[in-house]
Amino acid sequence: MSLDKILLVGGAGYVGSILAEELLERGYAIKILDRLYFTDNGLRDIRDRVDLTIGDMRDVDPSIFDSVSAVINLGGLSNDPTAEYNPKANYEMNTISTQTLAEMCKKQGIKRYIFASSCSIYDRGVKYDERDILQDETSDVHPRAAYSKSKYDAERILLNMADENFCPVILRKGTINGFSHRMRYDLVTNTFVKSAMTTGNLNLHYGGEMWRPIIDVRDAARGYIACLEADEKRVRGEIFNLSLQNIRISELGLRVREALRDVGVDTDIRPDYSYKGVRSYRVSNKKLARVLGFQPKISIEESVIDLVKKIRHFGYTDFDNPKYNNIRWMKMLEEAHKIIKITGSVFETSTEKTDG
Ligand SMILES: NC(=O)c1ccc[n+]([C@@H]2O[C@H](COP(=O)([O-])OP(=O)(O)OC[C@H]3O[C@@H](n4cnc5c(N)ncnc54)[C@H](O)[C@@H]3O)[C@@H](O)[C@H]2O)c1
Repeated sequence: MSLDKILLVGGAGYVGSILAEELLERGYAIKILDRLYFTDNGLRDIRDRVDLTIGDMRDVDPSIFDSVSAVINLGGLSNDPTAEYNPKANYEMNTISTQTLAEMCKKQGIKRYIFASSCSIYDRGVKYDERDILQDETSDVHPRAAYSKSKYDAERILLNMADENFCPVILRKGTINGFSHRMRYDLVTNTFVKSAMTTGNLNLHYGGEMWRPIIDVRDAARGYIACLEADEKRVRGEIFNLSLQNIRISELGLRVREALRDVGVDTDIRPDYSYKGVRSYRVSNKKLARVLGFQPKISIEESVIDLVKKIRHFGYTDFDNPKYNNIRWMKMLEEAHKIIKITGSVFETSTEKTDG
């Protein structure tokens, strides 16, 4: 059992909080750097076992790396809508600070640096059949959206930094599904579950014609750990796709509907062709299996059933709370910030000082 200390940047997020739990279970010590945009709820069961620094990844004191043996960077804006909403902040977080953190690691002799990239780099849209091909880590990609471009640029920078003293590893994750105490209902499978449990309908944007690679959040966490523990020579400067399988969103809808029946939720499926933001891509997951023997295990059905049980058990049934939807939440925080800048507080007068 290793007692290495791992720094998780963005470790209070949807993926980070599950990964932190898995790492603790394996005997690692955990440090987290997070701005807590979504509060520290994700860490509720492990809060007293992690060393949490609340701060911005763009403005880091080098002491954060003290006694750290590896860094996993999951911080920054984590989807298309938030990246489009503030492309400058997105680039600063997803690209520039990814580079700065890597340079700081290198300076401090921290070799392993795992970066949370995304399969959305492979997006080819749904318009042209001839573009609908299986892509792998060697495929030529030309991401243009703010989010995927920022991830791709960060990848390039990190790969150029690889040498015998620095071991960057890129994990291009598919879209994630499943339960986390930092819950997200803005990811397609989770959105389906939310929608079925609230309206009794699943809306298939663009008829669900698009392809997506998907993976359960616990499998994703295990993927990170596989890369963390792998022999350096196998992973240094490597990109790996991390996904269970590719699936058309229409098929995903059908499978989610069947799984939901097992937990007493009946739902209709409705195609909706008004939606325009259509991304589509399917990727090979063979490299991670070939190089590290890593295989995701959790099926869509298992993930959905587990998700519904935990939503009910822990009471995450306030589905429309904006905190579960990144773009709604970031816009709301911004709005609140504008108001609080003027009034100084929520309930107190500007001169009143109170702690309760
Ligand atoms: N969830 C997915 O389906 C998916 C798929 C592919 C890639 N990814 C990538 O994986 C990573 C984790 O995704 P997630 O779903 O856990 O996202 P998330 O939004 O739940 O978590 C991101 C975490 O980073 C923190 N953070 C954001 N900006 C920060 C800053 N400037 N300084 C410090 N902390 C900051 C947030 O507070 C949050 O806790 C992201 O990099 C995302 O782009 C996610």
